[in-house]
Amino acid sequence: MKFFTKDQKALSRTDLLAVFGPEGKAQKLPAGVKIPPLAREAFRGEFRETRLTDSVGGPAARVLQIGLGKRELLTLERVRRAAAIAVKKAERVRAASVALWIDAGVDKACGAFEVGQAAAEGALLGSYSFQELKRESKGPFLKKITLQLADRSGIKGARVGTSTGEANLFARRLQDMPGNLMRPRDMAKAARAIAAKSQRMTAKIIDEKAMAQLGMGSLLSVSKGSGEPAYLIHLTYKPKLKARERVCFVGKGLTFDAGGISIKPSAKMDEMKYDMSGGAAVLGVFQALVRLDVPFEVHGLVPTSENLPDGNANKPGDLVKALNGLTIEVLNTDAEGRLILCDALAYAVKKIKPDVMVDLATLTGAVVAALGHELTGCMGNDSALSDALVAAGERSGELVWPLPLLEVHKDHVKGAVGDLRNINSGQGAGSTAGAAFLSHFVGDVPWAHLDIAGSAWGADDRDYQGGPLGTGVGVRLLVDFLQQRGTRR
Ligand code: BES
Ligand code: ZN
Ligand code: ZN
Repeated sequence: MKFFTKDQKALSRTDLLAVFGPEGKAQKLPAGVKIPPLAREAFRGEFRETRLTDSVGGPAARVLQIGLGKRELLTLERVRRAAAIAVKKAERVRAASVALWIDAGVDKACGAFEVGQAAAEGALLGSYSFQELKRESKGPFLKKITLQLADRSGIKGARVGTSTGEANLFARRLQDMPGNLMRPRDMAKAARAIAAKSQRMTAKIIDEKAMAQLGMGSLLSVSKGSGEPAYLIHLTYKPKLKARERVCFVGKGLTFDAGGISIKPSAKMDEMKYDMSGGAAVLGVFQALVRLDVPFEVHGLVPTSENLPDGNANKPGDLVKALNGLTIEVLNTDAEGRLILCDALAYAVKKIKPDVMVDLATLTGAVVAALGHELTGCMGNDSALSDALVAAGERSGELVWPLPLLEVHKDHVKGAVGDLRNINSGQGAGSTAGAAFLSHFVGDVPWAHLDIAGSAWGADDRDYQGGPLGTGVGVRLLVDFLQQRGTRR
């Protein structure tokens, strides 16, 4: 699939032309495009309304009108969805090429740059299909998407949207890959491949031997039950000009979570291949940074492991020691995400010394109960940082909601035999307990923890994502966060 962005000087020959318009106004068509008058009159422009018409002349074989709804309700989310609808429809009618033509009126309502970015993201995200593991892949038939925008700054926005959109697809593919094909070593391989694409990136892969030397007893304890060795992936991005700050992202890369000795019930256990979604998001952010410039040194850490039951696996009650010296009672081997993340966070504090740190993890089932699949839970030690993530969520469409983390919650995870316990002792607030545990490893670095257990897969159908597959959540959010922070003085 090739994706192009250009102006609206002329429409080139295309199998399908998609035009977008708000409700209650006859849609303007590009010069030379003709459809029967009835087709134009019958179209009302309600949100998600579509009408496909054979054209009676001009460079487009067929015309798809897509409604954006009432002008006063126009949002970037609607633009994203409409762009995805266009691409999905093109695929369904087996068009080889589609042109998306967005009226300048949409720019006026939402901002030209933002519309360009949202349309590019919607189109790319809507093109996702995961066919590569089937004997005969059905499609994609669509070979070429051209986004045509009225304004120059829209084209700039589309360039950003192309990077984040492609990075989201990259993350989703990692997510959707089955656990036997996306092992810790495969995550490491993916990280190396990203770094190889950019002069400004390096990938360091810390293996189990090096982890032992560093004292990462907690991370190492999780992989003991698996035949696959664990890794700590460390990606570094250096900006063109002098870095203003060091930003560190940490993603849980549990490529399969059976729970270990505290084994999970078998129903839906297959979904635990998605327990590496935080890691996929961090790799996705770096994939986007291959083509985007941000004024920060960005570090990406992905502790990656399997969590399986075995004679060598962690046992409930075992004691492990993390890199920062804290000892941990492993009271539930299924609360393994925090065991691998805590060593990565402590490593960041000690070796990277970031100005700000955000982790993403499919950490708790409790966040799915609290927030469902449409939102990511946010906890941390810095309200300005949480606010910035919530704002990035609103802009990017990857919604973030604050959850509490109080001193008392930190006390709930203090141990009897060791310093800490990896679950609380029955006080409830399961997602907060996970964050509280992690808080003991971040020192005084401003930090936020994003629990993506709900938002990483299983979301409602929003045209550009949804259904049973992964969402790639986190990529668009964190790239937006970086870009917004980059414009701060
Ligand atoms: N990976 C799971 C969390 C999870 C569960 C994500 C369901 C998505 C859907 C995590 O490792 C886990 O098992 N957490 C436990 C923690 C508990 C033992 C304190 C959980 O949520 O049940
Ligand atoms: Zn678990
Ligand atoms: Zn897990």
